[in-house]
Amino acid sequence: KFRKNVLLSFVAAASLIAAAPAALATTFKMAIGDAAGGTQWELGSSFAKNLEQKTGGKHKVDLFPNGQLGSEEDTVNNAAMGVLDFSILAVNNITPFSPTVGLLTMPYVIQSADDAKKLTQGEVGKELTENTIRDAGVRIVGWAYSGFRVLTNSKKPVTTLDDLKGLVIRVPKNEIMIASYQAWGVNPTPMSWSETFTGLQQRVVDGQDNPYITVSAMKFYEVQKYVTNLRYIFSLEPLVVSESVFKDQKPEVQKAILDAGHEATEHSFKYLLETEEKIKKDLVARGLQITEPADGEKEWIAKATTTVWPKFYKSIGGKEKLDRALQTLGR
Ligand code: MLT
Repeated sequence: KFRKNVLLSFVAAASLIAAAPAALATTFKMAIGDAAGGTQWELGSSFAKNLEQKTGGKHKVDLFPNGQLGSEEDTVNNAAMGVLDFSILAVNNITPFSPTVGLLTMPYVIQSADDAKKLTQGEVGKELTENTIRDAGVRIVGWAYSGFRVLTNSKKPVTTLDDLKGLVIRVPKNEIMIASYQAWGVNPTPMSWSETFTGLQQRVVDGQDNPYITVSAMKFYEVQKYVTNLRYIFSLEPLVVSESVFKDQKPEVQKAILDAGHEATEHSFKYLLETEEKIKKDLVARGLQITEPADGEKEWIAKATTTVWPKFYKSIGGKEKLDRALQTLGR
């Protein structure tokens, strides 16, 4: 009997040893604000694939889309506390925690996908990453490029600022975006992203703005009818890692995280260029009616830049930060 027990425990120990490599694998959790299928999802799945490859399968990432792990703002707090590993959220929803990031949501600063790339991947992006580590306890390791935020609503075609009157527009809880609509003559309704679809569906709000790809991933075409092709903010969505989780990793894993993020960012840029037009067509086929802002958006631009920019010089770290960004963009 004794020999049999010894044999059994030997078998048990051997199976434990055999199971050891799997047990050593770490599975990180990644929160994603949007539904699966948008630019956030694309960045997150590309990152997960890259990280797994670079660590020989030792580090995996489980993706939780559609705000399953809380509002985008909650995920920043949770990552800062180290109870969540990664999050992908819109840059406008990280700004309340690290105001200098607001530079990237200043209306009409970014005028193309290339501008967006230049700012996020150059000196400006590097500095903003350092600031978010300091202010919010999270490190930006990648970016999703999502395209311009277009205005959608359920009531009427909007081409002029006058048309905006009478519409209840949802905005993120972002002071710069609230101020932009105020400059255009309306009082928007700040609302969490995780509540927006229901808000539109129940007609608590008439409209909102987000990129075409996001409008599609979130199925907003089911509850919206009209689109105004605005270009006031180019949507950027950082992939952040909890700084305390990052610091706990071995140097080679930290490097794998940074490299995986860099490659996923490149993938995101290509994805945008290849996908946006197709999605725009699909949205039209689903019944959305797209109109161009009258007067080449001149009135929208003038009102937003002259009244909004000066209000936020202080929070973005001084007028010189905006001047430097514009200079980087050759303006
Ligand atoms: C928002 O409108 O709150 C965000 O930009 C949505 C997003 O994360 O895609």
